[in-house]
Amino acid sequence: MNVGELQSAAFTAVPTLKPIKKIQFANAEDKQEFQKYPTKAGRRSLSRSISQSSTDSYSSAASYSDSSDDETSPRDKAQANSKGSSDFCVKNVKQAEFGRREIEIAEQDMSALISLRKRAQAEKPLAGAKIVGCTHITAQTAVLIETLVALGAQCRWTACNIYSTQNEVAAALAETGVPVFAWKGESEDDFWWCIDRCVNKEGWQANMILDDGGDLTHWVYKKYPSVFKKAQGIVEESVTGVHRLYQLSKAGKLCVPAMNVNDSVTKQKFDNLYCCRESILDGLKRTTDVMFGGKQVVVCGYGEVGKGCCSALKAMGAIVCITEIDPICALQGCMDGFRVVKLNEVIRQMDIVITCTGNKNVVTRDQLDRIKNGCIVCNMGHSNTEIDVASLRSPELTWERVRSQVDHVIWPDGKRVILLAEGRLLNLSCSTVPTFVLSITATTQVRHLVCLDDSCVKNTQKNYLFSIPKNMNLVFLCIFYVFFLLVILVALEVC
Ligand SMILES: NC(=O)c1ccc[n+]([C@@H]2O[C@H](COP(=O)([O-])OP(=O)(O)OC[C@H]3O[C@@H](n4cnc5c(N)ncnc54)[C@H](O)[C@@H]3O)[C@@H](O)[C@H]2O)c1
Repeated sequence: MNVGELQSAAFTAVPTLKPIKKIQFANAEDKQEFQKYPTKAGRRSLSRSISQSSTDSYSSAASYSDSSDDETSPRDKAQANSKGSSDFCVKNVKQAEFGRREIEIAEQDMSALISLRKRAQAEKPLAGAKIVGCTHITAQTAVLIETLVALGAQCRWTACNIYSTQNEVAAALAETGVPVFAWKGESEDDFWWCIDRCVNKEGWQANMILDDGGDLTHWVYKKYPSVFKKAQGIVEESVTGVHRLYQLSKAGKLCVPAMNVNDSVTKQKFDNLYCCRESILDGLKRTTDVMFGGKQVVVCGYGEVGKGCCSALKAMGAIVCITEIDPICALQGCMDGFRVVKLNEVIRQMDIVITCTGNKNVVTRDQLDRIKNGCIVCNMGHSNTEIDVASLRSPELTWERVRSQVDHVIWPDGKRVILLAEGRLLNLSCSTVPTFVLSITATTQVRHLVCLDDSCVKNTQKNYLFSIPKNMNLVFLCIFYVFFLLVILVALEVC
């Protein structure tokens, strides 16, 4: 029996409800008060607006400006910050104050990054660094960017995801003088336009790249080869971006040192694992109001991200199985108590399908055709190619946007698949992400950039992709823990 059938069965055990008696009002005032509340139709719209507010509350957590009714493209607006600079393109620079508040809130839980900023800002280890960055633009990234600036770097920034930008945070950065080119809901064309505006600035040439996904690196490599060749180095955060760098390196075309943040222990064990463990449930709840208990879930990929998702869903009572192509990870999944399956064999029974592989075409059109009615399909891996979303944009299928970031894709027989964030990263598009883990990743990124600017990379072979050695990460981790313990001890002492 599936959970729906079990729910129906449970009601047969409940005694039949008696009809509600006509309401008696003690006086006319009470009646008037009651009549203020919605009627049946109104109640329906009330419950709809409550459901809707679950996505709206995401917006308010992640972006105050999401529901802005200003439809003008930021590309068509002339804006300047209070110092008169117009070297940026954001939704509305006037939202800077809201954004500043978000940044200050984020700073409170980013102890490692803030302590690094305090320790190194007098020394300015990044003086002379001209960094172009392409990451999610959130309050936490703003703390990272402002740390780089405090350490002496000049930064220009753009978004690596068309949905994840917090408009008010981008505005706050633009207001402080960081050239930012990003807004929530960019088109594909806007996305590349923003990257180009970020790189292409007369009289200014980037000498470092901080990337998440490899799009910025690819753009600089293709369009600005002279900038690419002269760069001091690249710092890449994601599996996908690192894979693209390896391909470049293998082809002998990687002529600058590149740092692999993704494989640093401080990123993998915290961002990929714990961040996803915390945000998968949030993303699913805000978009669909789904109940997890009893749901059949398949998680594709049992790496760090998959492990985080599986453990959160299992803890909520979902029945979780996994798919894997790596026998070691498959065995790990099995030993953690998950059924290891082939997607083809289980696809018809699943209530939720989640991809976490960093690979392409993990869920194919053929599998989407066989998925059951009402199944939720989403991606926690890198890009929107894990689920073959492109194949769903065909004439026989109807797309219905039911909420922000939620589409019903409807088959000719009436079957609906609930696709979240158009197959892009669910948590970064539809939920909040824990600041604490992002602080660890951001601190790792700063350390890699300082390392690039430092002699530890300058004298090494150039055509090479490497990570800070694990023991350095461990030293950093120990320092982080000691610092964290000290903060707790001081707080306890104060109490
Ligand atoms: N959502 C987020 O916040 C977030 C955070 C960090 C990383 N990521 C992204 O998530 C992806 C996975 O990261 P990770 O750290 O878990 O990587 P990982 O390498 O540890 O795990 C990926 C796993 O997927 C498996 N896999 C690959 N192709 C598969 C397929 N077709 N079917 C089943 N399994 C397959 C691999 O064998 C591997 O075990 C990356 O693209 C990364 O950039 C997302």
